Amino acid sequence: MDTFNFQGQTYSFSRYPKTTNRSLRAWSAADEYLISHLYEDAQPLSDATIGIVNDRFGFLSCILSRFEPDVIIERKSQERSILQNLDLNHINSGKVHFMHPLDQTAQRYDKVVLNIPKSTDLFELYLHRIHSNLAEEGTVFCGFMTKYFTPQILSIAETYFEEVDQSLARKKSRVLVLKGKKKSLYKTLVHHLEYDFGGKAEKEIQQNYGVFSADHIDYATQFLIDQIQIRESENRILDMACGNGVVAMAVQLQKPEAEIFLTDDSYLAIESARLNIDGAGVHYLWNDRLDDIPKKSLDLAVSNPPFHFGYETNIEVTIRLFNEVAERLKETGRFICVANQHLNYKNHLEKIFKVKVLAQNDKFIVYECGF
Ligand SMILES: C[S@@+](CC[C@H](N)C(=O)[O-])C[C@H]1O[C@@H](n2cnc3c(N)ncnc32)[C@H](O)[C@@H]1O
Repeated sequence: MDTFNFQGQTYSFSRYPKTTNRSLRAWSAADEYLISHLYEDAQPLSDATIGIVNDRFGFLSCILSRFEPDVIIERKSQERSILQNLDLNHINSGKVHFMHPLDQTAQRYDKVVLNIPKSTDLFELYLHRIHSNLAEEGTVFCGFMTKYFTPQILSIAETYFEEVDQSLARKKSRVLVLKGKKKSLYKTLVHHLEYDFGGKAEKEIQQNYGVFSADHIDYATQFLIDQIQIRESENRILDMACGNGVVAMAVQLQKPEAEIFLTDDSYLAIESARLNIDGAGVHYLWNDRLDDIPKKSLDLAVSNPPFHFGYETNIEVTIRLFNEVAERLKETGRFICVANQHLNYKNHLEKIFKVKVLAQNDKFIVYECGF
């Protein structure tokens, strides 16, 4: 747990999910700079309507809770983390109003603080969303660490706002101050991809901006799909960390009558999967854990699991998910997953399962795990 002092009050923060990496904190210098900008702005804050976007662990939500802000939540783990930190600081969770990135609202924000995400598509989706709800005289403050700056950030900001001013650097972070909304910018922020499922069926796949692998089906995913052979006896099947749902679509092509569970931590991913796969036996679960799925109930789990979390690379969550899969498989169940060769998941998987290599090439490896 780390502490931060602001206006005579000490706030405590911890991260969800927990990490053993002690150098990782629940906020960055960009978050601190955002708070200073908001408080130092020429227009007083007292009655301001405030929106918060991409507050990963709850730093902004806790400090700004006195304004009863709207907080846009994209990740289930983000929601859990913010609730955990509100609780840690004895702040009633009713002080913040959670919303999803695709929700429509009539709210008019005077000020919005936004932590710029790694995905510039997601930054655009957030700005597009905020643009339609910002008061005409409103201001958006966008924080980022200078090492992550790309010129695309500026060009996206300039698409939506007349004035885009960049602050001086402080503790290696900067803030973009956006004012003056440009007119008539309604767009549908959905990518359309084509995929032929190894020559079996040509399909269009849709995905919201900000969802994994925007311009093509990921090569590891394609390699995984090529290896999946569903057995006659396998009827309850999980696509863990489903993204746009393409792996589940491959499962459904082979086994149309299967009951299929799709999970992802990302709200935009689950909403994308809904656009691509449906059926009476399809369940969409927005969750960073598998606790919606009963133990020992699955015949098969398939996954291209996560190991990038924003700018961080970390396999602690991946290993936790492997353990959760093991608990949900029947004794006869199988887990098939793909990984980049360099990740060396075998050692971790072997602590939980009996592991076989189904296929490999110079970049990827597909494991089949059982008991
Ligand atoms: C490598 S991508 C794979 C996406 C999709 N299956 C595909 O192959 O295109 C990993 C996915 O894991 C999701 N993710 C991250 N943490 C997760 C968690 N704790 N539980 C479930 N999904 C998670 C990310 O949102 C992302 O969509």
